[in-house]
Amino acid sequence: MNLDFAQIVPYIPFILEGIKGTLLVTLISVVLGFFWGSILALIKISNVKLLNWLAVAYTSVFRGTPLILQLTFVYFATPQLTGYNISQLEAAVLTFTLNSGAYISETIRGGILAVDKGQWEAAKALGVPYHRMMLDIILPQAVKNILPALVNETIALLKESALVSTIGLADIMQNANVVKGTIFRYFEPYMIAGTLYYVMVMILTWVARVLERRMRLSD
Ligand code: ARG
Repeated sequence: MNLDFAQIVPYIPFILEGIKGTLLVTLISVVLGFFWGSILALIKISNVKLLNWLAVAYTSVFRGTPLILQLTFVYFATPQLTGYNISQLEAAVLTFTLNSGAYISETIRGGILAVDKGQWEAAKALGVPYHRMMLDIILPQAVKNILPALVNETIALLKESALVSTIGLADIMQNANVVKGTIFRYFEPYMIAGTLYYVMVMILTWVARVLERRMRLSD
């Protein structure tokens, strides 16, 4: 067996630096994706036919094509189409937000439809305007019910963010690639990268469980 962790030690801080890129892309995208997904979900359950159709078509395109293609497309086609030299971080956040919004919109739509009919009827009977009913009554209950699904989405995004290495953004994966190309060893850098992703997902899972327990207590 050819293993030598001594060689990798000087490069460990460099791989750790990649955490910044990974976290930045994941956290910004999941927050923006949540808002974008909420808007899409509200459009989908509204009765404006044209908007409905647009939101459904949008979701179908972003779920129907590979994420790596969307990322490559945004990063390389944006300068060609608009003349704007989009940065790697901008391209990554934009793509992941657009993609995640499509998935999240369906999750939220399901959550909204699952809120008890009585809540809608009570709000209507009390004369609560539609947008206040949605924002103050329906959405909070919907989000609470879909919390596990949103955690799933965040975990998916955290791991999928490794795709940004294909456009050269300095995340965990990219930095592991760079180390591989510097010392010509594969097992050690990727083992460290894999461990980092795994630990991050475990931390996320733990935070989510605490959050969920606290929410249930407040019931
Ligand atoms: N591997 C899938 C793709 O290439 C992942 C899509 C992202 N997943 C998500 N829940 N946002 O399209």
